[in-house]
Amino acid sequence: MKALLLLLLLAFPALAQAPLHGGPIRALAVAEDGTLATGGFDQSVILWPARTILRWHEGAVAAVIALPGGGFASAGEDTRIAIWHGGPAPSRILEGHEAPIAALAAHGAVLASAGWDATVRIWPPSGDAQTYTGHNGPVIALAFLPDGTLASAGYDGTIRLWPSGHVLVETGLPFNALVALPDGTLAAGGADGAIRFLKRDPSTIAASPRSIAALAATRDGAILAAASLGGAVTIWALPEGRLLHTLEGPGLPVWSLGFSPDGQTLWTGGADRQLRRWDVATGRGIGPFAEAPEAAHPPAFRACAACHALTPGDPPMAGPTLAGVIGRRMGTLPGYRYSERLARGDVTWTRQTIADLFTRGPETVLPGTRMPEQVVSNPEELNALLDFLEANSR
Ligand code: HEC
Repeated sequence: MKALLLLLLLAFPALAQAPLHGGPIRALAVAEDGTLATGGFDQSVILWPARTILRWHEGAVAAVIALPGGGFASAGEDTRIAIWHGGPAPSRILEGHEAPIAALAAHGAVLASAGWDATVRIWPPSGDAQTYTGHNGPVIALAFLPDGTLASAGYDGTIRLWPSGHVLVETGLPFNALVALPDGTLAAGGADGAIRFLKRDPSTIAASPRSIAALAATRDGAILAAASLGGAVTIWALPEGRLLHTLEGPGLPVWSLGFSPDGQTLWTGGADRQLRRWDVATGRGIGPFAEAPEAAHPPAFRACAACHALTPGDPPMAGPTLAGVIGRRMGTLPGYRYSERLARGDVTWTRQTIADLFTRGPETVLPGTRMPEQVVSNPEELNALLDFLEANSR
């Protein structure tokens, strides 16, 4: 296994560029100066090109934005918003949401957030937030219109404007993504794969047969990119809504998108943990597009790879590394903070105990564990997973 990897590294130097994120990239933002921030399921925010890893959130990072005056803001599962202005710790922390945050937006020095508590919050540069209610379910997307009006959308199928609370659109259909164009048009990506343009003359592009996961527009509003849950990323010329490119290559499906300030480069982040670059003019990938190392993993391990590393040098992830797990006593990896249940250490990991864990499920076998409930129900996949873990424990 190790020798094969070394051989691959010698043959394809691009593979040496290991992804820094330990899990899928969920959010991405490009600042005016071209620097980027990405946020992942691995709970970290990474600044590019410096490759600075900011480990502060205590849960998956679901939203990252660039702040107009410089710096970034991030938020997610832990319900907190962190403002980053260089340095290893947030320069400001905003708290108040009662459930995970799904979206952030900024207009001048004003910040907005929204999430699973169905509220929209507007945070002035100092002092308390204004909390707005009205949505009947999680609020998943936010965008400030050029005039400072905030638009919000979510699973209740409405798009609302704040602070007025005006319901701009009411469909039965969940929305996942919003982007405001410079002329005041709002583009909304829906669960039906359509992108709706909302202004005086509403129009629609049927962009994908699957739900739209993310949208991004160039600064001038002339080009729109859409990522769909089916894996396709499409690039459109606006306002006519003409399809320019459908991206092809590794790195799909994509969960986050952002254009460079000049609109010539599209950045994407997704399930393979890599930050990728695409040439907007040609729709082709730029730079080394190596397959992510997970391609060699058996199918059942791909789910684990979002939270567990396998190589000693891998960055810390949500779960302890599974390198050497067979034969290891539960809850004993030095430096990892286990839940009380695992810290008890009353199980030794063998083929049998791991098979039991994923047959009956973590909640049944180890009630109180922080590992989410999951089972591997296909016996062949389970066997391949155990073989794989065993091979990585020698
Ligand atoms: C969403 C994140 C996540 C996923 C996906 C996940 N795990 Fe975990 N896993 C964790 C966390 C967090 C812990 C530590 C739990 C605790 O302390 O209660 C853990 C602990 C473990 C442990 C105990 C390790 C030890 O040192 O005692 C094993 C074994 C394990 N996971 C195997 C797997 C396998 C195999 C898969 C895929 C089928 C998987 N996990 C998928 C998050 C995850």
